[in-house]
This record gives sequence, C-alpha cells and structure tokens, in this order.
Amino acid sequence: MIELEGLTKRFGTHAAVDGLTLTVAPGEIFGFLGPNGAGKTTTVKMITGLLKPTAGTVRVAGFDVASRTLEAKRAMGLVPDEPFVYPKLTGTEYLRFIGELYGVALPDMRRRIPELLELFELTPRGGELVESYSHGMRQKLVLAGILLHEPKVLVLDEPMVGLDPKSGRLVKDIFKRLAARGTTIFMCTHVLEIAEKLCDRLGIMIEGRLVACGTVAELRERAQTTGSDLEGIFLSLTGGAEYSALLRYL
Ligand SMILES: Nc1ncnc2c1ncn2[C@@H]1O[C@H](COP(=O)(O)OP(=O)(O)OP(=O)(O)O)[C@@H](O)[C@H]1O
Ligand SMILES: [Mg+2]
Repeated sequence: MIELEGLTKRFGTHAAVDGLTLTVAPGEIFGFLGPNGAGKTTTVKMITGLLKPTAGTVRVAGFDVASRTLEAKRAMGLVPDEPFVYPKLTGTEYLRFIGELYGVALPDMRRRIPELLELFELTPRGGELVESYSHGMRQKLVLAGILLHEPKVLVLDEPMVGLDPKSGRLVKDIFKRLAARGTTIFMCTHVLEIAEKLCDRLGIMIEGRLVACGTVAELRERAQTTGSDLEGIFLSLTGGAEYSALLRYL
C-alpha cells in the first residue's frame, strides 16, 4: 500500500532522508521511530506529497505520488505533527468541509458527523469555533475528519501527542479496528509502549537512514539484546546510552 524506493531528500548538502526503501502492506500498522531530526517528518511529507523528493519514488495504493498526485492523495488521510484547523470554522463546519473535500455523500455526512463528534466527546463543542478548542480537542477533530472519509492509507505524525489517556486508548482501539478492516497505518511515534503494543512492524531511522526494520522480535535479534523491552532495543540500536558519562557531571 505504501512503497518507498530510494527515497531521498536533501536540504542543501544535508540529506534529511537518504535512500529509504520500504514497503508497508495492506492492513499493516507500521511504526516509524528514530531520534529527533532523524528524518521521520520529512518522510511523512514526501509520502503525502507535501514535499518533493530530491530522488526516489513514492507509491501509495498503487499510485505514483509525483505523477498521479490526486489519486494518491484521495487514498490517504494525514494527521500532521501540528494539525492545522481553520480557526474560524466550528467543529461541525470543519467536518462538513473535510467531507465535501473528499466527496463524502451528504446523507452519510449527516449521519456520521454527529456520531464522530460523540465518539470523541466533542458533541457539546461541535457548534463552537475551533479557535476556542484545546490542543487535544483539535487533535481529536482532525482524527474525526480522517474517519469521516475513511482513507485506505493513514499517515500519522505523532498522533498521540496531547491526548488524554482515555482519548489515547480510544485512538489505539480505532487504529486496531481500522487495520483489521484493511486500512494501512504508517505512524511516527516516540512512545515506545505504543510502538510495541500497536505496531505489526517497526522501522528505526537514524540520520536519514533506515537502520533496522522488522517486528519487535526481529529488532531484538538485530540489537543482540535478550529479554530487553523496546526501550532497551531502541537505545541499543540508536546509541542512546552514550550520554551516561555526561550525566555524572549533573
Ligand atoms: N525545511 C527544512 N530546511 C532545512 N532542513 C530541514 C527542513 N526540514 C527538516 N530539516 C532537517 O532535516 C532533518 C530531519 O528533520 P525531520 O523533521 O524529518 O526529523 P524528525 O525525525 O521528524 O524529528 P522529530 O522527532 O524531532 O520530529 C533535520 O536535521 C532537520 O533540521
Ligand atoms: Mg518529526
């Protein structure tokens, strides 16, 4: 469903993403991990057509994002790291706008918008302007928008940031259900517990390169750690223990 081939993005001479080749299957939940600045968001922007690659190709649902942009974009839903929602729309208006943009039939919108507002506990705020929403409420509204048009491929950049525990749990359950129905999910996250519990496969980026990719068990083997949790595996693969000498000075 997502096919990346030699994907590269350079900013000046610096390669933020360097020859990334990766395939994500239908119905798979893929977790994209890596330290700050590793190239995760840059990859998300290239997958979703927001940023033009320096080299390489992206195919989503069989469509080349560079040449069949519209078809590829229609197959995708994006939750960016900083979701933008027009502040002068109400929550309900925003969802209507998204529904119209993606060609959702009017009767479906009439039925589903109240359901989605209810699901995310936004019903009492549906008539209020988005500018009055808290960060987590905006995040939930963007997720509701995604569910309204039900894309085949979901691309999410840190979707859990700012959600309270109940909403976080709800979103995890939603992702599982969508994946079981065949939706493909590509998700950047720093929350290793979510990565471990939710994702079928993980990829770890360091300085623009995919250094490890596979199930948690496969990564454990790769990191040559026995019995480690994902944090231990991640730190072993990304050299995260290097600062321990510095800590002595604190
Ligand atoms: N528009 C830009 N111009 C120049 N450099 C950029 C630009 N966007 C990103 N970069 C650089 O590309 C690299 C990768 O950034 P990116 O945002 O993809 O990282 P990330 O893995 O998403 O990190 P984080 O975990 O902090 O979100 C960084 O070195 C960043 O400074
Ligand atoms: Mg990022």
